[in-house]
Amino acid sequence: MSAPDPHVSPRLTPADHRALSDEAKRDPQAYWRKVAQRLDWIEWPNKIHDATNGWFADGTLNASVNCLDRHLATRGDQTALIWQGEEADNIIRMTYRDLHERVCRMANVLREEGVKRGDRVAIHLPGVTEGIVAMLACARIGAMHVVLFGGFSAEAIADRLADSGAVVAITANVGRRGAKRIPFKATMDTALGLRPLSVRRLLVVSVTDDSVPMQTGRDAALEPLLEAAMPSCDAETMSANDPLFLLYTSGSTGKPKGIVHGTGGYLTWASYTQEMVFDHQPGDIFWCTADIGWITGHSYVVYGPLANGGTILLFEGMPSSPHPGRWWDVIENHKVTTFYTSPTAIRALMREGDDVPDARNLSTLRVLGTVGEPISHDAWTWFHDVIGKGRCALVDTWWQTETGGIMISPIPGAVKEKPAAATLPLPGIQPVLVDEKGAPIDGAAEGVLCIDGAWPGRALTIWQDDGLFQTTYLKPYPGHYFTGDGARRDEEGYFWITGRVDDVINVSGHRIGSAEIEDALATDHAIAESAAIGVPHDLKGQGIVVYVVPRDPSAAEMESRAVKAITAKVGRYAVPERVLVVPDLPKTRSGKNVRRLMRKIACGETEGFGDLSTLANPDIVPTLIEIAQRATS
Ligand code: PRX
Repeated sequence: MSAPDPHVSPRLTPADHRALSDEAKRDPQAYWRKVAQRLDWIEWPNKIHDATNGWFADGTLNASVNCLDRHLATRGDQTALIWQGEEADNIIRMTYRDLHERVCRMANVLREEGVKRGDRVAIHLPGVTEGIVAMLACARIGAMHVVLFGGFSAEAIADRLADSGAVVAITANVGRRGAKRIPFKATMDTALGLRPLSVRRLLVVSVTDDSVPMQTGRDAALEPLLEAAMPSCDAETMSANDPLFLLYTSGSTGKPKGIVHGTGGYLTWASYTQEMVFDHQPGDIFWCTADIGWITGHSYVVYGPLANGGTILLFEGMPSSPHPGRWWDVIENHKVTTFYTSPTAIRALMREGDDVPDARNLSTLRVLGTVGEPISHDAWTWFHDVIGKGRCALVDTWWQTETGGIMISPIPGAVKEKPAAATLPLPGIQPVLVDEKGAPIDGAAEGVLCIDGAWPGRALTIWQDDGLFQTTYLKPYPGHYFTGDGARRDEEGYFWITGRVDDVINVSGHRIGSAEIEDALATDHAIAESAAIGVPHDLKGQGIVVYVVPRDPSAAEMESRAVKAITAKVGRYAVPERVLVVPDLPKTRSGKNVRRLMRKIACGETEGFGDLSTLANPDIVPTLIEIAQRATS
C-alpha cells in the first residue's frame, strides 16, 4: 500500500475526494451541472436530471465533436492515436487532425450509403484503427454503432444483426494473429446468409493483401470509398438522450441484451471517470488493452480518453506473442504512462516470470488499472510490485456495461488502495448492500450490491425491450439498481466485489450467461437437457463446466457435439473446460435444476451437500460425483 511515486502528482487529495463526495450528496443537481461543463454542448442543458426526462434532457451536443473537433484548435497536431501492429515496425500515428479527417471521410461514406440518424451500423473488426474511426463516424452522423466482438460466431453475429436491425455492416477481410488469419469477412458472410437481415451494405477493410470473395451489389471495399470521400463532414446535433450506441451483453436470460447508452450522460461519465480514476494529465499515453467489442473499449479506448484530449494506444496483438515480453516492449517503446488491463491478462503475464518485465524499462508507468473480474491478492501484488515497482497507483475498477463507466475504484492520491479491493465509490455514486429481501445492510457486511440514486452513465434501456430493463435492473430490489454482483464492505467502507450472484459466468472477463450456453446446447436435438456452471479457473478466473443429458443414453460423441453447438451458437470464447455427459440433472420436486449442487460437484466436492431429501432424484448425486471425478482425473 505504498503511496504513488513523487513524480506522480495526482490531481485529487483524500480531502478533495471527501469534499467532492459530500458536495455530490448535498446537491446532486449542482454537482452534475458542474461536471457536465467538461463537455462542449451545442445547447447547454438547463435540465440536469429528473426521473422522467433522464439526464441533461434539453441539452444538445455531438460526441464526435467532443472527441475531435473541439481539440483541433489547441491540440490538432498532438497524437491522438498510436496504433502498434503485431510487427514491431508496423506503427501508425494519427494526430487529432488526422483522426478528425479520417472520421469525417468515414462519416461521409456512411451518409453516402444512406445511413441516417438513428440507424444502426454494425462494426465487426479486429484491432485496427478503422474500428475507432467507424465508431466516431457513426456518432458524427447520429447513427448508433453496434460493435460486435471479434470472437462471436456467425450465429451470434446474426442474432445481434437481427435484433439491432443494422443497415450497414463493417468488417475486415481477415484479422491477423501472428501468421494465423482470422476469417472476419467469411464469418460475416455466413452470418448474413443464415437468415434474411436488414444489412444492405457490407464495407470491407483490407487488413492484409489476402483476397476474399465479394458479393456484387452488397459488398464494397472501404478504402477506395474513404479516399473518394470529402475530408470534412457536418456533425448532427444530437439530444443528450439520443442513443449513442447499442452494445450487447449477457445476462440471466439466453438472449443477449442490447444495452443502449445515451449521448450526453454517457459521454459525461466516460470523460469524468477517465480523468479522475486514471489521473489523466497532458502528455499521458493511455493504453487500455480491451477489445472495442466490449464496454471497456468503448469508454476507455475511445470515448473517455479522446473526450479528454488524451493520446491512446491501440495494440493489434496478443500479450505474449511472438514472445512473452511483447506487451512490456509496447509499454517501453511507446512510453506508456497509464496501463489498463484485465486480471486474466495479469495472471497470464505473471506466469512468464519476473525476469521478462524486469528486462524492460517500464519507468514511464504512473497509473495501472484492472477491470472485468475479481483480482486475487497475489495478482494484484505482482502487478503493483513487479510492474508498478511499488511506485504506481493501482486502480481496481468495478463497473459494468450497464453503468457506462467506472463506479467503484481507488483514485490515485485520493483513495488509498488495498490489494484486490475496488475500494470506494466515485464522488456522486451511492452503492448499497442489501440482503435477499432487499433490506439495506449497514456497516461491515456482505450482501447484494445495488446502486441508489442516479448517475449520468447509466444505460437508457435495453434495445426494444424497456420492460426487460425494468425487470432486470430495477424490479429485483425496488428502489435500487441491481448490479447482479455480490460485495463485502469492510470497516472503512471499502467495497470488495465477490462475483456474480446470478447465473452469469465470467470467463477471462467475458460475461457469458448460463442460459445462453444452455440455449446453444438445446439446438442439438441429441441433447435433452443441459446446465452450464461457472467454476474457478486458475488463468481465466472462471471456466465453464457443462452438464449434458443425452436423449439417447447410448449416443456417442456427446462431448464434441456439445462443444460444436456452443462454438456455432456463441463462439469459441465460450467453449467449456469440461462436458459431463450425465443420465439426469439433480432436480427439486417442482422440477427445477439444483445449480448449487451441480456447482459443488463440478468443483470436485464430494460431500457437504446438505439435505438431499428435498431432491426429486437424490440417487443421481453419486453418479454425478463419479462422472465429474472421472472427467478431471
Ligand atoms: O461481475 C462484475 C465484473 O464484470 C461484470 C460486468 O461485466 P461487463 O458488463 O462485461 O463489463 C466489464 C467491464 C466493466 C460485473 O458485473 N467486474 C467488473 N469489474 C470488476 C468485476 N468484478 C470484480 N472486480 C472488478 N473490478
